[in-house]
Amino acid sequence: MAALTVSALKERAERIKELSTLPGVILRILEVMNNPMADARDVEREIVEDPVITAKILKIANSAFYGANRDISSVSQAVVLMGFAEVQNIALSVSIFSRFAEPTRMFDRHQFWEHCFATATTAEALQRRVNAQTNEGFVVGLLHDIGRIVLDQQFPNEFREIVTLAEARKISLLEAERRVLGVTHCDVGYWVTEKWNLPPILTDSILFHHTPFSCRESYVLTSIVHVADAVSKAFGNYIKKEAVPSPKDESAFRLLNLDSDKLMSLADLISKKMEHLDILVGSVA
Ligand SMILES: [Fe+2]
Ligand SMILES: [Fe+2]
Repeated sequence: MAALTVSALKERAERIKELSTLPGVILRILEVMNNPMADARDVEREIVEDPVITAKILKIANSAFYGANRDISSVSQAVVLMGFAEVQNIALSVSIFSRFAEPTRMFDRHQFWEHCFATATTAEALQRRVNAQTNEGFVVGLLHDIGRIVLDQQFPNEFREIVTLAEARKISLLEAERRVLGVTHCDVGYWVTEKWNLPPILTDSILFHHTPFSCRESYVLTSIVHVADAVSKAFGNYIKKEAVPSPKDESAFRLLNLDSDKLMSLADLISKKMEHLDILVGSVA
């Protein structure tokens, strides 16, 4: 057991400066997502003012995914071509990836973003496939494991102990986190996103993404992210030493009325969208 108590851990996680606020564009997008009365043009204006986000939106709009034979030169043209939700997802991804650009110690950062982006993309496709009354799958997918970045960057000794224990005992990282810290990356992710004042539907989904039936606010959204997390693990484990992946909750599959055929029908779309990751994470050419 580490010397850190849970309350000391929580206090330290909440004090982290770079985690204390979120870029305005993310907050604005979440506001529009959660409030049908909010004006989507505010988000578009905010995006247009950000040259990095704009450049990446245009690059994706002009990529093979969208046909690549048009000449999309403005965000408003990109909105017409891709739809507003897609433009928002690009802005969210770019903002989150750049906010946490500092290298990680115990895992490959690119693989970590690959896992998060795959989870986000899968969650978004799933919520449409099952006609869920939710549009937060993408953002929760992106942020679901954010607690692991906090653990790696702010609690390196404890995190090293967690990875070593998982490997030595052949247990999941989640279980090793519980044994070493008494909490998991789910709790840490919950603390920081609550600090950002994200709506409870998002923070609860982050807290319960490994145990969707324990969640209070939305077990449909949480189940979607839980299944998407399991699916995206097919793209590889970002923590190289992870010994055993966490088992998926079968009841989440049942709740969503999913089977492997339905999941396979999404595979093509998801793998094509994964090609955008390098544009989203990379520097603007
Ligand atoms: Fe997780
Ligand atoms: Fe995950």
